[in-house]
Amino acid sequence: MSVTHAPQTADVLARQDPELAEILLGELDRQSSTLQLIAAENFCSPAVLAALGSSLANKYAEGYPGARHHGGCELVDVAERLAVERAKSLFGAEHANVQSHSGSSAVLAAYAALLRPGDTVLALGLPYGGHLTHGSPANFSGRWFDFVPYGVDAETGIIDHDQVRTLARAHRPKAIVCGSIAYPRHIDYAFFREVADEVGAYLIADAAHPIGLVAGGAAPSPVPYADVVCATTHKVLRGPRGGMILCGSELAERVDRAVFPFTQGGAQMHTIAAKAVAFGEAATPAFAAYAHQVVANARVLAAALADEGLVVTTGGTDTHLVTADPALLGVDGRTARGRLAAAGMVLDCCALPHADLRGLRLGTAAVTTQGMAEKEMAGIAALLAGVVRGEVESARAREEVRDLVGGFPPYPA
Ligand SMILES: Cc1ncc(COP(=O)(O)O)c(C=O)c1O
Repeated sequence: MSVTHAPQTADVLARQDPELAEILLGELDRQSSTLQLIAAENFCSPAVLAALGSSLANKYAEGYPGARHHGGCELVDVAERLAVERAKSLFGAEHANVQSHSGSSAVLAAYAALLRPGDTVLALGLPYGGHLTHGSPANFSGRWFDFVPYGVDAETGIIDHDQVRTLARAHRPKAIVCGSIAYPRHIDYAFFREVADEVGAYLIADAAHPIGLVAGGAAPSPVPYADVVCATTHKVLRGPRGGMILCGSELAERVDRAVFPFTQGGAQMHTIAAKAVAFGEAATPAFAAYAHQVVANARVLAAALADEGLVVTTGGTDTHLVTADPALLGVDGRTARGRLAAAGMVLDCCALPHADLRGLRLGTAAVTTQGMAEKEMAGIAALLAGVVRGEVESARAREEVRDLVGGFPPYPA
């Protein structure tokens, strides 16, 4: 088993720094021998890992292709242009900036491009699935802008569109943000565009979660509606850890300048090359089939969890993501997550709309990359419920998890 799947670097690392190589091997073993249900994670391909562990990690490249502050950028310029062209073609966007170091950096740059400190912004409130960058007081967003939160309907868990319109009319925000860390349904981008137009606001879609589904044609695209689309490249999209911004030509220069030099320094060229690889992979029919299977799996998982007595937010999912309240099984989300971790089932807690205690957030991106399908999702839901109820001991559950994942190695030898 290699440490990083880039064999030339793996062997060198094992020889030169066995202590660190051991940690990397241990992490690979953890990922392969437990069940990865964190909605924001995936297994990127060996080709993506190879680009990350390549000579491009050595290169300084402040600026943009053809206009760098450093010499020797001829080849990394080609790599970045390739990433940009692939992103534009994959998402049908007029402009792509692939330099954002993360999803948060992409959102920061979008705000920097469109807003001034003190501007009012409408976004999904954090208790309903908004991200930290959507107005948390612990984040630059909450400190530098005046966020007005909208919520979800208490009964259905669906975004409260009437409230969005009412708040927009009352506050006349400079920007409206749509996007979430935990909303399992498609976002009605046409509706948000209409409201933004009515009040003269920019529309920023933070599509960090669904962008991979968009790439595979399994979710609606925000690109035709939003002024700026922010995204991550490491979730369903299955690329390296990083961010990306898509926009129309008229905002291209503002967005680029908001990334560099306003909020970032040198571009991480190895990551940009890995993004190019991932965009290439995501343009294939195999990836489209994968994206649709991710959703099919999540739907079965949501239904099976509901059958087991968990209360599934919105009653199901349109995406890779399921959130559920395990209270009827006798525990809150935090306790459930602890029991599941001991059983080798790795997932997150999340805020539940209109509930005091936290719930569970699961996703099917990683298990689907491993090749699991509907049958495995039903089995996972049954085992999860048994563990949460305390009916299946963690040692036995761990064995079952090991048997299951043993049949679906993320990186077959
Ligand atoms: C909606 C949304 N925005 C932004 C981010 C931030 O991404 P990162 O962790 O790469 O900064 C996330 C991450 O999960 C997210 O879900």
